[in-house]
Amino acid sequence: METAEIRRRFLNHFEREGHTVVPSASLVSPDPTLLFTVAGMVPFIPYLTGRETPPYKRAASVQKCVRTLDIDEVGKTTRHGTFFQMNGNFSFGDYFKEGAIAYAWDLITKPQSDGGYGFDPDKIWVTVYQQDDEAAALWNRVADIPYERIQRRGKKDNYWHTGQPGPGGPCSEIYVDRGPEYGRDGGPIVDEDRFLEIWNLVFMQEAVTEVKAKDDFRVVGDLPNKNIDTGMGLERVAFLLQGVENMYEIDQMMPVIERAAELSGKKYGRHAKGDPGYDDDVRMRVIADHVRSALMLIGDGVAPSNEARGYVVRRLLRRSVRAMRLLGVDEPVADVTLAQVL
Ligand code: ALA
Repeated sequence: METAEIRRRFLNHFEREGHTVVPSASLVSPDPTLLFTVAGMVPFIPYLTGRETPPYKRAASVQKCVRTLDIDEVGKTTRHGTFFQMNGNFSFGDYFKEGAIAYAWDLITKPQSDGGYGFDPDKIWVTVYQQDDEAAALWNRVADIPYERIQRRGKKDNYWHTGQPGPGGPCSEIYVDRGPEYGRDGGPIVDEDRFLEIWNLVFMQEAVTEVKAKDDFRVVGDLPNKNIDTGMGLERVAFLLQGVENMYEIDQMMPVIERAAELSGKKYGRHAKGDPGYDDDVRMRVIADHVRSALMLIGDGVAPSNEARGYVVRRLLRRSVRAMRLLGVDEPVADVTLAQVL
């Protein structure tokens, strides 16, 4: 299934359930405390905190996001990208845990011939926040997931906030088992390569402050409403539904890898770690990711520079150029110059 079709099915599903489809906001975060839009919820922060009254109770979006915290992992794992698209559904004081779980379950397990993604229900695992008995019971009742496939985790994994003072809440993550050939038994708490996270449902109900780390923050109190904020990794779902091995090989990214292979004369080929050719594969995946993020940022008006956002673009471009050089390409290769893009 093409990435564009996965996106379309997501928005159709939630529009049918009364959500207003909201276009993606800029990558330059509308929230002054964040450099970039790091999640689908960023444009909705004023509604989640109660500072502004939302014009709708339910919304859905496909938000372009940039996160550079894991930049060193790019190309080496199956799933780390600095640019990605987040499918999200949001409830501002309307439905809560039960609705979020029911909508998500319906979309991922509905047959493809019926507009869903058609994942095998027996391959779905979920995690819930340590003390969240209610979410565990709902997964068991609404989705019929046996308790053996509902795992509990602490704040580090199953509490979500942006990393800045603002809204937060316990979350529940949905994973797909890719099969024993990809890793060990035992669910996501044992192996997150075999069990791939595709969707995070956040039960956004608290205001947090003094945020020092994922699991080091202070809860100030309850938000005015119990809200829902979810994030599904569009590229991750695409890589599972397209039967490829990682997010860099999906239909929207593979052409860049193919072009890097063509320009360098190297063969891209899923070499295993340690094999000759593995480093070149990583370089081509880095290029596919970084060129995409840099272009998307430039498209949103961020010019390469020495500070803040501009520095991130510069770093992404430099890392792409370096990867091309290591592939043996020293000459300029772009058909358009940056000046033309800007
Ligand atoms: N805001 C949540 C996340 O980014 C859904 O994972």
